[in-house]
Amino acid sequence: MKDASPQTIYLKDYTPFGFRIDEVALTFRLDPSATRVISRIAFRPNPEAQDRRFFLHGEKLKLISASIDGQPVAPDVTDEGLTCEVPDTPFVWEAEVEIDPQANTALEGLYMSNGMYCTQCEAEGFRKITYYPDRPDVLAPFDVRIEGEEKVLLSNGNPGAQGDGFAEWHDPWPKPAYLFALVAGDLVNHPGHFTTRSGKPVELNVWVRPGDENKCAFAMESLIKSMKWDEEVYGREYDLDIFNIVAVDDFNMGAMENKGLNIFNSAAVLANPATSTDMNFERIEAIIAHEYFHNWTGNRITCRDWFQLCLKEGLTVFRDSEFTADMRSAAVKRISDVIALRARQFREDNGPLAHPVRPESFVEINNFYTATVYEKGAELIGMLKTLVGDEGYAKALDLYFERHDGDAATIEDWLAVFEEATGRDLTQFMRWYTDAGTPRLKVTDDYADGTYTLHFEQSTPPTPGQTDKPPRVIPIAVGLLGPNGDEVLETQVLEMTETKQSFSFEGLGAKPVPSVLRGFSAPVIVERETDNAERAFLLAHDTDPFNKWEAGRDLARDGLLAMLRDGAQPDDLYLDAVQAMLRDDSLDPAFRWLALGLPSQDDLAQALYDGGTTPDPQAIWEALETLKHARAEAMQDLAPKLYAQYQVTEPYQPNAEQSGARALANGALGLITRLDGGAQAQAQYDAADNMTQQLAAFSCLLQAGKGDAATQAFYDQWRHDRLVIDKWFSLQVVNAAPEDAADVAERLTGHPDFSMKNPNRFRATLGALAMNAVGFHHASGKGYRVLADWLIKLDPLNPQTTARMCSAFETWRRYDADRQAKIAAELDRILAVEGLSRDTTEMVSRIRG
Ligand code: ARG
Ligand code: ZN
Repeated sequence: MKDASPQTIYLKDYTPFGFRIDEVALTFRLDPSATRVISRIAFRPNPEAQDRRFFLHGEKLKLISASIDGQPVAPDVTDEGLTCEVPDTPFVWEAEVEIDPQANTALEGLYMSNGMYCTQCEAEGFRKITYYPDRPDVLAPFDVRIEGEEKVLLSNGNPGAQGDGFAEWHDPWPKPAYLFALVAGDLVNHPGHFTTRSGKPVELNVWVRPGDENKCAFAMESLIKSMKWDEEVYGREYDLDIFNIVAVDDFNMGAMENKGLNIFNSAAVLANPATSTDMNFERIEAIIAHEYFHNWTGNRITCRDWFQLCLKEGLTVFRDSEFTADMRSAAVKRISDVIALRARQFREDNGPLAHPVRPESFVEINNFYTATVYEKGAELIGMLKTLVGDEGYAKALDLYFERHDGDAATIEDWLAVFEEATGRDLTQFMRWYTDAGTPRLKVTDDYADGTYTLHFEQSTPPTPGQTDKPPRVIPIAVGLLGPNGDEVLETQVLEMTETKQSFSFEGLGAKPVPSVLRGFSAPVIVERETDNAERAFLLAHDTDPFNKWEAGRDLARDGLLAMLRDGAQPDDLYLDAVQAMLRDDSLDPAFRWLALGLPSQDDLAQALYDGGTTPDPQAIWEALETLKHARAEAMQDLAPKLYAQYQVTEPYQPNAEQSGARALANGALGLITRLDGGAQAQAQYDAADNMTQQLAAFSCLLQAGKGDAATQAFYDQWRHDRLVIDKWFSLQVVNAAPEDAADVAERLTGHPDFSMKNPNRFRATLGALAMNAVGFHHASGKGYRVLADWLIKLDPLNPQTTARMCSAFETWRRYDADRQAKIAAELDRILAVEGLSRDTTEMVSRIRG
């Protein structure tokens, strides 16, 4: 069984389970190395299913006993589960199993983290807890009894009887097993309270390990804001008497939406001004919202099978983006989302791991919690909303909640509610779900006799397993500017449905300047021949904040590409334009900070590769350094002014306004540091009374090569705080010089605080190496070697995190023959490891091609 080659699962093979479950009762007798799980499950035949084979998933379980209707049975047990003869009438299955939470380093199922018991069941972890049909289309109400000495014993739903050494929980809402959760530990709570709009009181808690009490307030505020927002914007009320959040130190992902008991990576929930940056706060607010929003989009309406993962994830990411846009600045949120989409999803979509938003097959579902399913999935919701309008979207969502509450639904169900609510035919839209790859949108234009015409042509390059890419419907938001900078056509959404299509605008007095794909209305790559003068014009005049930012980004990118391809000097037009923008006090400081950002090394590598040039990582880094230096010189006067102007003097608040000011001031600090060798950064470091200021200064010092004293001081100050020490590990690697990065990462793996068992720490060290692109791709190949060494070490302990981190290699085909050979050798070395996990085997094989 063990060495059987991993099986591929196909969407087309879906069949319903042969039984339904009326009730589940579980008893846990906790013990670190020998926990007993006693289950009592009421099954009855599913009238909608043909196949009545009784198969229960189960992995790493020791079966103690099993019975049906009280009669002992001897099921047929394999590594993957059990089968058993069962009656063709309703029956009660009972089983007792033993599991070993302490030995569970994969952090899937029931495991221990710093002395507390916790669970992670999505996607297929419940089968490591007991025998069960571990699939999202089998829903049941759960009764849970926990027996243990820990002070706090939590599970899903509402509390029942509690006493010395035990607690009972009842979850009345039928749910699939992946939403099950249990937590037990000597925890403390930060309490809160919410009254729903229909007047139902809800008890709220953030549970943490003693010592972390002072890091809970922000999460609680964020939770209350989320609950209110979902009522106001989506009409969704909470549906239990209690909502618990627990912070766990060892966690593979960000967080998990278990019904009534959300479990969070402590990095995604714990925060206070001294230990957390503005960016941490914003991310925590978004993740709290995301998990809370899942209560409706995920829990009340779940997925029929894991191919439909984007049904809950795409929609919930979209909802949390809307929430952040409402809480903070919509423009800044949109720009940041697109930066992240391009960095992660476009990269994925243009490489060997490309897959549809709704994949058709997988080996290990954990490998499909990707930027494509999440972030591109959210973009598809945004396009739907653009196509049907705000009202159509609201009607469709109401119908979705009304019709599918309590269901395990599909993407077909989802699109059907839009079709019915709005009368639109969405057959062609479905291609966005089924076809992988990022469409290219070629744009040309002409003007004659007052008529301006935009010509579009779409094409999508082949992706693994999909060569033919028919045209998709693309909503293209367009505005037109007159020669004096005034808008002559307000934003209009053009619906492109064919491979080639033209749209004309009449009655114009002069040839306008087009602002195409406003708000990034579709996840495509626009290809348009234009000149820098036009970009500078858009940067100055475009009323659409996204395209205004985009014009500046294009200027910067094309200037860098010219430096790389033709040895050009930094572009003066860019230097002038960015300065003009930074000086414009009418613009939001956060927007100006984004406009100061430059394309990443990875963006430039992809752009060169797309243009037929083999990227040289060292040259890319040097071009960026040259441009940053030129900017620092050009802004020698401006930078100190901005720095002074945007110092925040009020008490620290992690709100949008203060964060924007700090971001811009710290951007200015980066410019200053290039010329003053770190004096200002050291002063800021010494005076800092919050982590945003401290960390910004620390980064500047490291980049300037003046970080030694701060590195020691930072460690001495924060050695007691795991989350802060993660930052310490990561910043040293990310900011290491190209030739040092691999050595710094390797040296830090020898630090007494390094641990392979904590995914945050592992990522802070080895994930950071992959983030230092020039260091990772150092010509010696040592970056590749160090990462591969550690992935090989981590795989037997934690396959999920190992497999995810393999994507550091996904862009390998871009590079020169020498680098390709070195990476191929590392990939082959990983694949050759005996007993390599299914997760990592699938990832590395797909990358290797
Ligand atoms: N559903 C969680 C979320 O909110 C993520 C869980 C991912 N789990 C996994 N094993 N891949 O996005
Ligand atoms: Zn989610």
